[in-house]
Amino acid sequence: MLHFGWIRDLMETLPLSIRPSMMPPGVRDMMTFRSAIRTQIDDILSDGTKNINPSIFTHLRDDPSLPSSEKSPQRLEDEATLMTMAGSYSPMLSLTTAHYHLLAQPSIMTKLRAELAATDNTTTRLEQLPYLSGIIHESHRLTFGLTGRNARVCPDENIIYTDNPNKVSYSLPRGTSLSASTLVIHTDETIFPDPWTFDPDRWTLKDEALLTRRRKAMLGFGRGPRICIGMHLANAEMAMALAAVARWDMRLFETTEEDVAFRHDYHVLCPRLGSKGVRVRVLGRAGGMMGRVGGVIK
Ligand code: HEM
Repeated sequence: MLHFGWIRDLMETLPLSIRPSMMPPGVRDMMTFRSAIRTQIDDILSDGTKNINPSIFTHLRDDPSLPSSEKSPQRLEDEATLMTMAGSYSPMLSLTTAHYHLLAQPSIMTKLRAELAATDNTTTRLEQLPYLSGIIHESHRLTFGLTGRNARVCPDENIIYTDNPNKVSYSLPRGTSLSASTLVIHTDETIFPDPWTFDPDRWTLKDEALLTRRRKAMLGFGRGPRICIGMHLANAEMAMALAAVARWDMRLFETTEEDVAFRHDYHVLCPRLGSKGVRVRVLGRAGGMMGRVGGVIK
């Protein structure tokens, strides 16, 4: 799509009847997915009675401040496709990675359970627990958000980039395609020693300067005005899901690090091909874990 964007344009001009037979299965699945989304968008746009349940898309339809070009069926189909993919695959990757390491490294699970058990007032929010946050940060660090480059162009002005350590500034002409590689930065040994090791303790240090440097290097959600709009939702989902996972005694089933490790770059991380994901046997309740539900301790 990056280098041969015309292929997509060409496919979109083909009549629907001949498209499926020409497509490889992955592309066909994508077309089926988009066509299901398009049906819902068409229903919303043609719903004169406004009876459909409110959603982001009913709000876009009813917002008088939006130009009609931003409410066209194609535009809304594109938005809905992005929203569904961005809101499901990335949190799934981070959660799967955290789940694997909690079970593969029992010392991490023990520390998490101790933190959850020691927090017994009714107002502590899960996202504020330092060790749980460390687990979430490590999961985002090693799933990278996007493993491919997410290029941006500034059309109106030159960008001044200053290399502080070397005290050199560069002027990058307007119109230049610019990107940073999250993959390279998240595994920079000068910021994250032994970078491929999943270690939540990187985030519970007392060294504020180092922590600031590490936080600054975290690019999994992007940065700037186009930063992921689902970041807080994703972190809340992860905190709730990991606290729930900690309540159960599980063992990994036919799963190795290859099922969560970065093995292929499909613009997002892809583990070994053919992986069935992280599979577990649930043995029962974990001893000593009290019920903790939702964002607060019950
Ligand atoms: C671990 C979870 C997630 C990760 C790592 C992630 C990562 C990202 C990244 C890297 C971008 C591109 C930022 C850029 O272009 O500079 C992005 C954009 C976006 N994300 Fe997420 N995301 C996550 C969860 C979610 C969730 C839960 C939702 C919604 C339910 C969501 C919705 C979006 C949308 C709509 C955009 C496009 C925003 C725009 O173009 O302005 N994401 N996300």
